[in-house]
Amino acid sequence: MLNIAIFGSGSGSNYQAIAEAIEAGTLDARIACVLSDVEDAFILERARRLGHPAIHLDCAPFKTKLDGEAEARAIELIREHDGDFVALAGFMRIVKPGLLNAFAGRIINIHPSLLPNFPGLEAGKQALEAGVAETGCTVHFVDAGIDTGAVIIQRKVSVLPGDTEETLMNRIHEQEHLAYPEALRKIASGEI
Ligand code: GRF
Repeated sequence: MLNIAIFGSGSGSNYQAIAEAIEAGTLDARIACVLSDVEDAFILERARRLGHPAIHLDCAPFKTKLDGEAEARAIELIREHDGDFVALAGFMRIVKPGLLNAFAGRIINIHPSLLPNFPGLEAGKQALEAGVAETGCTVHFVDAGIDTGAVIIQRKVSVLPGDTEETLMNRIHEQEHLAYPEALRKIASGEI
């Protein structure tokens, strides 16, 4: 069984989708703990409500990466909670080799585009500006690059006439909530 440590910085709707799949018995996994670099992020509130360990991880002095003492603390916390797998769910920091090596091949992420298209920030805006007819979401293994690891699963979303960044991102989010549990199911079942 996967013992998943979730890392997030924001709302945590993907974490909730994973937790609901576990609760519904469609994903054979356990949430070990939920870590956030943002003390008042809603993901921690969701975790408290769902009864999972909700932990604020102070990542100072770094602003955009998880490194140094915070990285060491993160590894320690995952192990303390018997976590053996990491799911990044809206975690807005770059993961460095310390964590990557501690959980080699066992860290995944979700990104709101069909990678390799539109990596990095504001993927919905990038898609609208590029004028593509289709975008979507990708669950992928995490490597040292930004949104570059091997793809596990993708779900497509059509760009509709009149779409704003908000309407498009809302539809991408709906697909993300299906894609993340589906990707974890493939890993939990040994399919990949
Ligand atoms: C998602 O769009 C995900 O693709 C991106 O950050 C967002 C997180 O949303 N990496 P949530 O916090 O899971 O609601």
